[in-house]
This record gives sequence, C-alpha cells and structure tokens, in this order.
Amino acid sequence: MSLGWLRRLIGLPDTFEGVIYDTASIATMHALAAAREAAIPAVRAKGLAARSDVPRVAVYCSDQTHSSIDKAVIAIGLGHESLRKIPSDDRFAMRIDALRDQIARDRADGVLPIAVVPTVGTTSTTSIDPVPAVADVCERERLWMHVDAAYGGVAAMLPSHRHVLAGAERADSVVVNPHKWLFTPFDLTAFYCRRMDVLRSAFALTPEYLQTRDAGAVKNLMDTGVQLGRRFRSLKLWMILRSYGAAKIRAVLAEHMRLARELAAWVDAHHDFERLAAVPFSVVCFRWRPATISASAPELDAFNERLVDLVNSTGDVFLSHTRLRGRLALRIAIGHLKTTYLTCTLSPAGTAGAGNASASREGVQGHARCTQNSCTGGSVGGCVGAERGARAKLRLRGAVGVDAGGKRLRERAGRCWRRGRRHGRRNHRRRSGLRV
Ligand SMILES: Cc1ncc(COP(=O)(O)O)c(C=O)c1O
Repeated sequence: MSLGWLRRLIGLPDTFEGVIYDTASIATMHALAAAREAAIPAVRAKGLAARSDVPRVAVYCSDQTHSSIDKAVIAIGLGHESLRKIPSDDRFAMRIDALRDQIARDRADGVLPIAVVPTVGTTSTTSIDPVPAVADVCERERLWMHVDAAYGGVAAMLPSHRHVLAGAERADSVVVNPHKWLFTPFDLTAFYCRRMDVLRSAFALTPEYLQTRDAGAVKNLMDTGVQLGRRFRSLKLWMILRSYGAAKIRAVLAEHMRLARELAAWVDAHHDFERLAAVPFSVVCFRWRPATISASAPELDAFNERLVDLVNSTGDVFLSHTRLRGRLALRIAIGHLKTTYLTCTLSPAGTAGAGNASASREGVQGHARCTQNSCTGGSVGGCVGAERGARAKLRLRGAVGVDAGGKRLRERAGRCWRRGRRHGRRNHRRRSGLRV
C-alpha cells in the first residue's frame, strides 16, 4: 500500500510493480541482475564463466554515478571493467553524445551492451542525467534502463519538480530512497520495476520446505531477490505518509530547496566564496576562495579541507565534501524534517560567533567551539572566519547536514548522543531536532 502511494505521488504509472529493499545499492544490484537475465541466454543456469557463446558485456553510467553501480556490476559477476563511465557535461550530467558513441564503439568491438543507469540527483552535486534522451537510446538499442533516483526522485512529488522524473516512466526499473530525503529512518528503499517477471525469472526458486498451498495466488517477496527473510520495513513509510500527508511533505521538500537556493545566492554574492555546481535540489557545493589571498590549487584544497574539519569539530554544523573537476568542494545538504529555518551571514566585517577560526596564506588556523546555547536554545550555530575579516556564520534552527548520502549522519548522531548526555539527553535531542 505504501509503495503504491509513493509511486503515485512521484508520478510513476501503475504498470510499475514495487518491492522494498534495504538500500539503493541492493536495489540496483537486483536491477542489473534482471538486465543480465534479459540479455544473456541461460545465464541463470550456466552463469558467465568459461562461456564461449557469451561476449563481454557493458553497462553504462556517468562519471558522477554513485559507487553502488560499480559494486553491483562486481557483485553480479559482470566485472568492474564492464562498467563504462560516460563523461558528464559542465552541469555534471551524462553526455548523451558520448553515451551513443561508446555504445557504437562497443558494438563494433563485439561487446554486448546490456543496461544504462542514468541518475536523478547524483551524489556529489545532485545533477540530473537526461533521462528522456537515455530512454530513446535504450529503446533503440534494446537496453535495460535503470534510473537511480535514490536521492532526487522524491522531489517529483512537487508539481514544480515533476520534470525531474520525466522519462522515468519509460524505464525498466527505478529506485527511490525514502531513507534519504523522505524522513524515513534507515533502512528503506523503494524499487519499482516494469518487468518484475524478468527479476522473478532471475531469482524465484522454491524448495519443498517453502511450498505453500497459496503459491501462484500471492506475490511472494522471496521471488524478487536474494533474500528469503525480510524485515517489516513498509510500516515506516506508511507512517510517514499517513502522519504527515502529501501536502506537508511537499511543503517541507519545497522549503529545503528554497533554503538551498538562498544559501547558494549568499555564496554567489560573497567575494570569498565560490559555488561549484548548480543547485537543482537541496545540496549546495561551494568552496572558500578568498579574493585577497592568491593561493595555488593544492593550497586552496588544503584550506577547504581544514575548513571542513573546523566546522565539523564544532559538532553543531555538519559539512561533507567531495571533489569536483579536481577541486575540493564543501557540501551542505538540507534534508532533515525539522530543518525549518536557516540564516547564514557571510559578512566581510564579521561578527563574533559561536566559535571562530582564522585563515592566512599559511592555512586555516584557530579554533571552533560548540556553544552551550546551541544545545539549549533550540538552534545550532557555528562560525568560521578568515583573516582580513571574512567570516561565515551559520545558524540554523533544527538541524542541517543530513548528507545526501546520509553516510555521516550516524557519526553526527553519535556525537549528539554523547553531548546529549552532558546537557540533558532528552532536552538536547528534542531541541536539536536530530534523528537519533
Ligand atoms: C545517487 C545515489 N545512489 C545510490 C546511493 C546508495 O544508497 P544506499 O546507501 O541506500 O545504498 C546513494 C547514496 O548516497 C546515492 O547518493
């Protein structure tokens, strides 16, 4: 039921059947196993090893794709070399001309293309691959299209963002992660497939001790993957959708994106900061690049690395980082249900903040400290500054810093827990709005 609601909310047709997995990584692995099943005769029975009748195969994704695609091709025995990372354009989206060229080259070399994985909301910058154009290619070339919308897919719930999943209705499979940006406690991934019969023919296997009289009358979830036993995950999604409702969820997602755009505008307006990617959703990638200090590329990277450490050591604000076109980028991801207000002042004059750090040509120095009132006042704050006055003060009500990848949240939660013990566990957890 909850998968049906979510499917309708994001605008996928009812022809997609849904199944819940633990993570997007596992969903993608199953999608590519289905692609392998569809493309390679008798692969279930004979596998791939030592088969002279099976050519080398290829799977395509962009150079911005999440590492789960790499792991999936490794896990299902296609080999890492089968993955073709198609170059992305200046907006970090897959170049469709390069995709077409690579497929043509592979076919000419006797390689068998089997699947393309476009992403809606890539991990580093949240860029969006051109899904409709990829769908054209897949239809023409008869390839499985698996859309990794783990992060960005839920934005399609907003009428203003329906377009982010344009073309996904033509996919063979789509993955969306409620545990990423739909406030659902880890772990819960929604996998939608238009050809679940192919996935079933890859995995259905019922020994005598699992036979039931209902066989055929029910959809048995053990048939759609490796797992037999399963947790009752859907209740979490059901509760999120029931208790908040579509209108509230849309409003929260819209607010996250508004906050991200506002933060991006502040970065753009400040002469000591530089934005490094567009902001289609709620993640902002930027770096500190002081106008008054001439620094080499490695020095700038080192400054920014230090800045991440300083900000994160406050325990109040969490930044993650990535590397974009060789440059170290800071990432702020806004995705927590209780992130309701954020002000960020980047003023050359600077004001005293909760802590401070200074930077010079030699590097970022100084200290950053956590304020007691960040735990008791219902807001969290930190302050980073730079020599000659550039100061960035981040103050937010609720919580920020839920990594789009969600990875460091556990570390953050751990720190919060320890601090919570100092300042009054219940009080802190309630007011800081952290999911623990
Ligand atoms: C675009 C994208 N796809 C897939 C994943 C993997 O998600 P999971 O942790 O659910 O396996 C991530 C995680 O950050 C992601 O950003």
